[in-house]
Amino acid sequence: MAEIMNNSYILERLREEIESVVGNTRLVQETDLPNLLYLQATIKEGLRLHPLVPLVLRTVQEGCTIGGFYVPKKTTLVVNGYAIMRDPDNWEDPLEFKPERFLDSSRSSQKDAIKEEVLNYIPFGSGRRGCPGANLAYVSVGTSIGVMVQCFDWKIKGDKINMNEAPGKISLTMAHPLKCTLVPRTLIPLASSLHMSNS
Ligand code: HEM
Repeated sequence: MAEIMNNSYILERLREEIESVVGNTRLVQETDLPNLLYLQATIKEGLRLHPLVPLVLRTVQEGCTIGGFYVPKKTTLVVNGYAIMRDPDNWEDPLEFKPERFLDSSRSSQKDAIKEEVLNYIPFGSGRRGCPGANLAYVSVGTSIGVMVQCFDWKIKGDKINMNEAPGKISLTMAHPLKCTLVPRTLIPLASSLHMSNS
């Protein structure tokens, strides 16, 4: 939500998509997500720039060579997913919040998209110990963000939200609390009946 608030054109584009697919007489729901491609791309971009679990651990069972380095048996490796997902060799404008990069139209081929998913995009880890809750996470985050965008205007003090990250934690969190005011949108009759905190 912080990135969406910092980039008003994204909020507008999400609203347009939601209004054309869902309308304004009911809330976004799970079954809408396959048709809300820009919303899906926005969630993916959020997880790329701000992965909840930035470092993933692996302990090698046998000695092996990775990238030319010998790794002895029982060594614990730390895979820096945060750095991989901001690597300028793999991502154009890696520090920019650009959901468009995940839309098929901006990819040169399906092959590129698959390569990107497998090697460079790892907010849920990878392989046998990858996150088994990834699909559930996409559905619940997608519906939550969808409803929040659909039903409320988001106001912040000042120009931009400070996106600095808190140091020294296993999971990635914001350094400063996100303070904003929610104003129910009058277009959505349902919004006024939702009870949400305003901070
Ligand atoms: C946005 C939400 C979530 C993120 C970013 C996330 C991310 C991750 C990551 C990075 C790992 C480590 C994967 C690896 O070592 O390769 C992990 C593991 C795991 N996650 Fe998630 N997760 C999310 C939501 C969920 C949900 C909703 C569930 C269950 C309902 C879940 C259950 C698990 C479990 C059980 C593991 C351990 C898997 C294992 O060690 O074999 N996660 N998650």
